[in-house]
Amino acid sequence: MASPTTEPTPGSLRQHIRAAVRSFCDEPQPVRVGWPQVFGSVLLFLMVVQGLTGFLLALSYSSSADSAYESVRYIQERTVFGGLIRGMHRWGANLLIVALAIHIARVFIWGAYKRPRQWTWVSGCLLFLTVLGFGFTGYLLPWDLKAYFGTEVGTRIAGSAPGLGPYLLTWLRGGPQLGPMTLPRFYAIHVLLLPALLLLGIAWHLWQVRSYGITPP
Ligand code: HEM
Repeated sequence: MASPTTEPTPGSLRQHIRAAVRSFCDEPQPVRVGWPQVFGSVLLFLMVVQGLTGFLLALSYSSSADSAYESVRYIQERTVFGGLIRGMHRWGANLLIVALAIHIARVFIWGAYKRPRQWTWVSGCLLFLTVLGFGFTGYLLPWDLKAYFGTEVGTRIAGSAPGLGPYLLTWLRGGPQLGPMTLPRFYAIHVLLLPALLLLGIAWHLWQVRSYGITPP
C-alpha cells in the first residue's frame, strides 16, 4: 500500500506562498484608518527610491578627495540622466525628512507610542537617528565648499558632546582636522554601515507594527 507523502507538490507550494503573501497583505485594519496612516508606507517607498538612485550614483562616484568633486560634476553633466538621478536622490532625502516628521507627529497624536507599542516607538527612534545619519554623511559627499564647511561645523558640534565628544570628532574626521581621510570614512558610513542599520531597524519596526497592529482612532 502506498504511504501518504508529506512532501508538498509544486502546486501546493505555490498555494502556500500565495496564502502567505495574502495573509501578509490582507491584514485587517481598525475602522477609520485612512490618509494619516499612509506615511509609514510613504517612508518605505522613499527609501527604495533612495536605495536605487544611490546605487546608480555610486556607479560613477569617486570617494577620493582628489576626484570626488570632479566625479559629481561628471555625473551631473556627462552621464545619461545623471542630473535627474542626482536630483531625485537629493530631493528624496529632503522629502524623507518631511515624511518622517509627519509620521512621528501622526503616531504621537494618536498616542501610538504607548504600551504595547513602546518598542515600535523605540525602533522608530533608532530609524530616525539612522536617517539623520544618512543626511549628515551624504552632505559631505559632493566635496564642495558648502559640504566642507557644513561638515566642519557638524563634526565640531558632535565633538562638543560631553565625555565621548573628542573621540567622536577624531573618529568622524579620521584625524584632528577635516581632510582627505574624512571623505572615504563618511562614504563608507553612508553606503555600508547606515544601510545595514536601516535594514535591521526596518525589519524590527515592521515586525513590531505587524505584531501589535495599527492603533485604533
Ligand atoms: C524612518 C523610517 C520609518 C519607517 C520606514 C516606518 C514605517 C512604518 C510603517 C509602515 C508603519 C505602519 C503604518 C503607519 O502607521 O504609518 C509604522 C507605524 C509606526 N511607526 Fe514608523 N516608520 C519609521 C519611523 C518611525 C519613527 C521615527 C517613529 C517614532 C519615533 C515611528 C513610530 C511608529 C509607531 C509608534 C507606529 C505604530 C502606529 C500605530 O500603531 O498607529 N516610526 N511605521
